Amino acid sequence: MKGAGSRHVSSKLLKTKALLNNKRLIPHIPRTKRFNRKTLQRMLRRYRMVYLKPVHGLKGIGIMKAEKRGKKWELRHETKADLFKDVPALYRSIRRRIRKKAYLVQKGIRTLRYQGRPFDFRIMVQKNEQREWEVTGIVGRVAPPNRIVTNRSQGGTCMPARKVLRPSMKKSEIGPYVDHLYRLSRRIGRQFRKSYPNVWQLGVDIAVSRKLKPWILEVNTSPAVTPFLMLSNRSMYRRIARLVQWNRSRNAK
Ligand SMILES: Nc1ncnc2c1ncn2[C@@H]1O[C@H](COP(=O)(O)OP(=O)(O)O)[C@@H](O)[C@H]1O
Ligand SMILES: [Mg+2]
Repeated sequence: MKGAGSRHVSSKLLKTKALLNNKRLIPHIPRTKRFNRKTLQRMLRRYRMVYLKPVHGLKGIGIMKAEKRGKKWELRHETKADLFKDVPALYRSIRRRIRKKAYLVQKGIRTLRYQGRPFDFRIMVQKNEQREWEVTGIVGRVAPPNRIVTNRSQGGTCMPARKVLRPSMKKSEIGPYVDHLYRLSRRIGRQFRKSYPNVWQLGVDIAVSRKLKPWILEVNTSPAVTPFLMLSNRSMYRRIARLVQWNRSRNAK
């Protein structure tokens, strides 16, 4: 199935568009444009640090980060970093790497760190037996040293969400903050379904800025359960697996 009736949506641009229909989500969505010479120039002027991602990408593959460094421009990809004298030179280098592949350019978020390494969250939301969106799991994902992505397939480490937040806030603030992320994730679920009514689960990637603002990096319509298997406590995993089974049997009828 393709289009609005499908259960899997791969275009990061279309998925962002679906969420932008909700006024309360807009402040949490980093500006995202299809990559070209003009949008790169504009976005760099505005934000000075941007992420470049394949429109149909996954697992952190092909992701780059461009940032102003003194008078020069730096391009990071995997563990490498190159410097360019101006934006046109930077653009040419990005083009050589991506060729004709569709990319997007997104405002870069300066995220919280854990032991000096950037992290974000993977939050699982699923439709439950009451046909409501339920948050069934949250895991912190910490980037390996010298990497710009937190994906497990790129060497990222999964950790309990409360643990990665601990250095950034008081103990008493963690519970309410996680609740806030849960409410945001359920809202994402409800909004997403307005455009894609057959979707019943989402893996939401949320980064937190140094001012503690949550930013939605992307939503996955075919989220893996493996990050939740990395936690020693299996209760989230069990609930996720339960609802996968429940929704599959319901859809099969
Ligand atoms: N705008 C951004 N600002 C900061 N980090 C980002 C941004 N976009 C992506 N990242 C980092 O790259 C990782 C992968 O990006 P994501 O959009 O989730 O693509 P993928 O589908 O490859 O997982 C994120 O988990 C995060 O660590
Ligand atoms: Mg992701």
